[in-house]
Amino acid sequence: MSQSESDLTKIYLGHVISPLSSTAYLDFVQGALVVNGKGTIIDVAPWSEIQHKYISGNHINDSNVEIVDLGQRLILPGLVDLHLHLPQVSQTGRSGQHLLAWLNKYIFPAEARFSDTNHARKIANWFFDELAANGTTLAVVFTTIHKDATDAAFEVALEKGSRVIMGKVMMDANSPEALTEDTETSLRESEELAVKWHGQGDGLLLYAFTPRFGVTSTSELLAGVGRLFAKHPGTYVHTHLSEAKEEIQFVATQFPSARSYLDVYKSFGIIGKRTVFAHAIHLDDQDIKTVADTHSSLAHCPSSNFFLKSGVFLYAKICAAGCLFGLGSDVAAGPSMSLFNVMKDANYMQPDIWIEPPELLYRATLGGAKAAHLDHLTGSLTVGKEADFIVVDASRKSGIVDNILSQPTDEILSSLVFLGDDRLIEATYVRGRCIFHI
Ligand code: GUN
Ligand code: ZN
Repeated sequence: MSQSESDLTKIYLGHVISPLSSTAYLDFVQGALVVNGKGTIIDVAPWSEIQHKYISGNHINDSNVEIVDLGQRLILPGLVDLHLHLPQVSQTGRSGQHLLAWLNKYIFPAEARFSDTNHARKIANWFFDELAANGTTLAVVFTTIHKDATDAAFEVALEKGSRVIMGKVMMDANSPEALTEDTETSLRESEELAVKWHGQGDGLLLYAFTPRFGVTSTSELLAGVGRLFAKHPGTYVHTHLSEAKEEIQFVATQFPSARSYLDVYKSFGIIGKRTVFAHAIHLDDQDIKTVADTHSSLAHCPSSNFFLKSGVFLYAKICAAGCLFGLGSDVAAGPSMSLFNVMKDANYMQPDIWIEPPELLYRATLGGAKAAHLDHLTGSLTVGKEADFIVVDASRKSGIVDNILSQPTDEILSSLVFLGDDRLIEATYVRGRCIFHI
């Protein structure tokens, strides 16, 4: 970035909406989001209240300030996808099977192809472009067991300016031959990748130790993951938990002394802040309390749970217990990378409760950032945070709804959540840098 670019302050004028909690949001119809040259938010307010700071009459006070007038477009925080799989993008929409059969039939063969690093790099390019086009500004990502492919994925993310928590998958048991690692190699390569990538891109890239799930892990592997997680401060552990009944039975036979599936991870030190457990559908009350007490995080993936018929996330109970959780697309078991589709499915999935649009937006933004323990940096449009935001043209997909832009904001949000998809996204910014524009 040149000196003049890094000094440039940009003022984005539009309808600014940003969650404050699961029920309240900031709403400035003629708002301004002001971002300095470092990509930090320095003002968020109604434009009428702050314009005197930046303009006198028709003149901008400072040649280092640029105004970007977005008219009636919405300016929202970027979306947070707490769980998805980079190598699986080619396998979306292949159903008809429960989890373990689906993995064997479609997913493992697709992941084995990542031994070819050129193929891996091609898919990584496609993947990060799609994430940006879907308005996702923070993603928690599984790659494959391949070190070089994971290296390539980090290189692509760095080049494109994506914000990602990612790691090499670890599998040393009950896996197809092409995806079975030697335990020590898996641990060593994971540590090398963590040392190389955690914190790169000025903190945009973070490392997650990624044991796939209980089924494909030995005790030695999980014990090693617990040690690495403790040894490398700030790193994450990202894994699957209690998704499908047959998976849970398998884990119970493999780890007979554990009280529950969560207890398996806990017994190896895989619990607490910066552990992200995907799915977590079949939890009992004690597990839910443990998740809450330890500030562990859950990635709720409703579209995937529908698709594989895995079960229904205990949304109300988990909220009431105060667990940290956000939403995940879980591509490819989830068919769409759009968090708008996932928000809709989170509501549809619950047979007895209605999840309101402001809460769905919260889960896909600030709630997800809290679950990633990154809400001091991202997840809402707040002074001092990094400018991770999207520009949304609500009329592009919701033009069918009468006069959507002149409706109260609650109605606009409802329309986004229930009709929205990637077509809504006009531009995506991470730390003030535009990473996607139509
Ligand atoms: N459990 C273990 N691996 C996977 C995966 O790739 N997708 C889903 N949905 N669940 C898993
Ligand atoms: Zn998954």
